[in-house]
Amino acid sequence: MKRSTIVFCGLAALLIAAIGCSDVKRTPGKVYMPDMANSRAYETYSANPVFADGRTSQGPVAGTVKRGEEYPVHIEMDQTGDTANYYASRALPNPFDSLDADQMKETERLYLINCGICHGAKLDGNGPLWKDGDGPYPAKPGKNLMGSYASQLTAKQRWQVITYIKSKQGK
Ligand code: HEC
Repeated sequence: MKRSTIVFCGLAALLIAAIGCSDVKRTPGKVYMPDMANSRAYETYSANPVFADGRTSQGPVAGTVKRGEEYPVHIEMDQTGDTANYYASRALPNPFDSLDADQMKETERLYLINCGICHGAKLDGNGPLWKDGDGPYPAKPGKNLMGSYASQLTAKQRWQVITYIKSKQGK
């Protein structure tokens, strides 16, 4: 074998070894559809140069009405402890004169879950949480201290529960 051939083979072997080894260490292998793992879209809550306020997560457009909130309450919440807003609230008209059969069924369900446990399925203030004083709730449903249910029921559902109660009281 010629000397130049031996040198050439030696160099070639070194080169292959060098490329082969370093390559295996540095490249983690082929990534199939990398866009699925590394989204091109901006991550939620990340900084964003596209919007003037620099935020990716934009609030709803002004005037947007949340589903179920199409009956907003236009009176300010009472922060001072006086009853002016209580009387203001009494002037609000109920958007539901009556409920159809499906609404009645759904509203009865809402009443029994959210109110009936204390106020009773018969609206007699004797639900399973009171049970003539044997229940776990310390107070009998009465007047003036009922808490807000704004976080449990939408404005629409609250109006419907009121309509449900009034229709039962009528009987
Ligand atoms: C955890 C028990 C409980 C639940 C649930 C409950 N209530 Fe009451 N509610 C009471 C009690 C106790 C009172 C009486 C408070 C008092 O005597 O000061 C009361 C009072 C009331 C009053 C009279 C309030 C006033 O200030 O005159 C109304 C109206 C009322 N509840 C409606 C509802 C409606 C509607 C729901 C369901 C959305 C509901 N309650 C759910 C316990 C409950």
